[in-house]
Amino acid sequence: MAKAKDTVFFCKECGYESAKWAGQCPACHEWNTFVEAPAEQTVKAAVRKVASIPSDGEKKQVPLADVTATEDERILTHIEEFDRVLGGGIIKGSLVLVGGDPGIGKSTLLTQVCKALSDDGHKVLYITGEESLGQIKLRADRIGSFTENLLVMAETDLDAIEAALSEERPEVAVIDSIQTMYRPDVTGAPGSLGQVRECTALFMQLAKGLSISIFVVGHVTKEGVVAGPRTLEHMVDTVLYFEGEAQGTYRILRGVKNRFGSTNEIGVFEMRSDGLNEVRNPSEFMLMGRPENASGSIVSCSIEGTRPILLEIQALVARTGLGNPRRSSTGIDYNRMNLLIAVLEKRLGFQLSECDAYVNIVGGVRINETALDLAVLIAIASSYLDIIVDAGTIALGEVGLSGEVRNVSMIEARVNEAKKLGFQRCILPKSALKTLQAIDGVELIGVTDVKEAIDRVRGK
Ligand code: TYD
Ligand code: MG
Repeated sequence: MAKAKDTVFFCKECGYESAKWAGQCPACHEWNTFVEAPAEQTVKAAVRKVASIPSDGEKKQVPLADVTATEDERILTHIEEFDRVLGGGIIKGSLVLVGGDPGIGKSTLLTQVCKALSDDGHKVLYITGEESLGQIKLRADRIGSFTENLLVMAETDLDAIEAALSEERPEVAVIDSIQTMYRPDVTGAPGSLGQVRECTALFMQLAKGLSISIFVVGHVTKEGVVAGPRTLEHMVDTVLYFEGEAQGTYRILRGVKNRFGSTNEIGVFEMRSDGLNEVRNPSEFMLMGRPENASGSIVSCSIEGTRPILLEIQALVARTGLGNPRRSSTGIDYNRMNLLIAVLEKRLGFQLSECDAYVNIVGGVRINETALDLAVLIAIASSYLDIIVDAGTIALGEVGLSGEVRNVSMIEARVNEAKKLGFQRCILPKSALKTLQAIDGVELIGVTDVKEAIDRVRGK
């Protein structure tokens, strides 16, 4: 039987579209990522339905010189951790995806954002497909009192939501969550790839057409956000991830994609009984509960966006009888860890091929910065040699393949952050000493290679 032409196949990972199914995606080379979904034409139909997109019927091509930028039209929530991750407030008419594990606090965060905005006089509409209005109220009661500016609506039908948005014209709307929304005229259950794509496309049009900033909640599945991480991420302006361990109290809001700002900012929150509290000094927070007199632990400083954050790096190196030693890294790149282990083997003669090695950045953050190399290397060495690194010491520096310790950016800001939290010693690249002014109360120990660094840790 001939196949209906209204479905296509596309890759969950990269969004590559094809008329035929394929085992391996020709674009991103991932296996088994092809799924069937309604063709683009239904999305286009939805787009056409939004009558109020400006410039319909008008001349569409205009001189760039005449275009007025709306870049600066931002709405501030005054929740600093949140505004900063967005790049300095909410851009008018932007579509923001807030992803995270179920139960991590996405609805709580967005309810608090709604409260902050509505208290400030902005009109906000919170649409839920997950809970009843009564359940929303119960959560809201824990957070505080709300003004008339915040409207709530329990709805999953996209047509009703579209009508409500067009009628109320709020400045900001929240859709909680994309997995529960559906269009009756599109095949597939709510949460299926076709529905999610369709809904997201419509929300994008509504955001731009009606100039409403829309936050869309997306639950993360094991493989990533909803129907494959990339597909949705391509469609929206900004992607934020809300992370943390459900049992722990800290939560980290991270920008993954941002058309209007940098993506390396993070916001740190603490979940309390009355909602999420901002953590203004994440360094102190990250170092809380540090073990005393334990080998394999050292502090370093990472720059996240504009802020220096101190982090504890832990390593555990244990002898193994197995031929294939186990290696695991949490918070840093796995390959980078292996590289540093190889440097220790080659330059210092450590017998790490007989040892399991685990490296972890405490606090659940993920850091992709080479400035932490030296600290990771020292943590591994400290555990291997079973020597304790003095608790008042931090380490900064990139490690090269010949074992040389190289300079890193913004070193002064990093050392100053360490000083603020009472650190007295800093092991850093010798080359940094040329530009770095003496910092009161912090002993700066310049090293040229990893051997020198390990010798200093050993107290030689
Ligand atoms: P929720 O925002 O419903 O998570 P999500 O929308 O991401 O699924 O929050 C879930 C958890 O947060 C829930 O286990 C209860 C907890 N919580 C608090 O600890 N304090 C609070 O003030 C609120 C509102 C929730
Ligand atoms: Mg929720």
